[in-house]
Amino acid sequence: PAPLRLGIAGLGTVGTGVLKILRKEAAMLSARTGREITVSAVSARNRGKDRGISLDSYAWEDDPVALATRDDVDVFVELMGGSDGPAKAATEAALKAGKDVVTANKAMLAIHGQALAELAEDAGRVIRFEAAVAGGIPVVKSLTEGLAGNRIQRVIGVMNGTCNYILTRMQSAGLPYDIVFQEAADLGYLEADPQLDVGGIDAGHKLALLASVAFGTRVSFDAMELEGIGRITIDDIRAAEDMGYRIKLLGVSQMTGRGLEQRMAPCLVPATSPLGQLEGGTNMVVLEGDAVGQIVLRGAGAGEGPTASAVLGDLCDIARGFRLPVFGQPAASLEDAVPATSTTP
Ligand code: NAP
Ligand code: HSE
Repeated sequence: PAPLRLGIAGLGTVGTGVLKILRKEAAMLSARTGREITVSAVSARNRGKDRGISLDSYAWEDDPVALATRDDVDVFVELMGGSDGPAKAATEAALKAGKDVVTANKAMLAIHGQALAELAEDAGRVIRFEAAVAGGIPVVKSLTEGLAGNRIQRVIGVMNGTCNYILTRMQSAGLPYDIVFQEAADLGYLEADPQLDVGGIDAGHKLALLASVAFGTRVSFDAMELEGIGRITIDDIRAAEDMGYRIKLLGVSQMTGRGLEQRMAPCLVPATSPLGQLEGGTNMVVLEGDAVGQIVLRGAGAGEGPTASAVLGDLCDIARGFRLPVFGQPAASLEDAVPATSTTP
């Protein structure tokens, strides 16, 4: 078969990670998918920047839209970030030009995911986003493939590693929020706009995407009840600890008789539970299906390797010819939705 030809826009943490795996594992990927995966062209803001990786064998485009619509590109890989601007423009252009899209951009999808999914459907193309939710954890694939025989009842998760680091460190070192926030900044954990992390918005974006996949509903970030961790004090942490609990920024999404409920807020979880024990930048997603019961997925929610791993999973799916849409899986109707009854782990 002909190679699957990529155009990659964004050569930062995730983009360079993807290029490294594509190079190092070219033979393995080809053996696993039955097809060579090649890179035709790349794009970033600053062509002269040293990225610790040679770009000589790829064509360069300054303009991500030009990259996304090149004749020698089958899949546009969007790894720039930003809910609007070039990421959205190039994704739309790619779909209209008949390209599939793989992206890690939760901010763009949480806001424009529905419109982009419809555009993809109209164009007969797919848009895949495993890396946008819980980094390296293959949770979208678990829902759409492994759990396809289930009606999903509830999705729970710690999906922002930065908030989990801050809360864990406050608890373990007894340090106040401001000090630990600065530590997280010094370690390079925070998004360019830290409010996305500590305001719960980034985690909310991820939960909105996951809920849409789990329940087959429209992506509805605006309808989410959202609270970040900025008001959590060391006294709150200590009081929780005294009662045998830990505070986690927890997302919960479940189908109820009133429709889809989505909440992202600091919650008390038993200190000895898997969620209570979750430390540092790690993510955890708990899925509840009517047939399977409860499944716990845990892993790195960010970083070069884990996020690139998720992007590669999507690319291999496309190379193998898996073309089912991920958004808009047929869902349980409101009438026959099963209310969640089991307890938080
Ligand atoms: P990053 O390190 O900041 O890299 C962003 C890249 O996009 C850079 O190469 C930058 O170019 C390029 N870029 C930005 N604006 C551009 C424009 N207008 N035109 C062309 N190129 C542009 O970001 P990242 O951490 O790799 O994240 C990429 C995406 O993955 C984001 O959507 C992010 O939310 C998502 N994500 C990241 C992680 C993670 O752990 N990092 C985890 C999950 C999801 P220059 O290098 O020339 O400046
Ligand atoms: N800022 C995000 C986090 C990066 O801390 O989880 C990964 O999406």
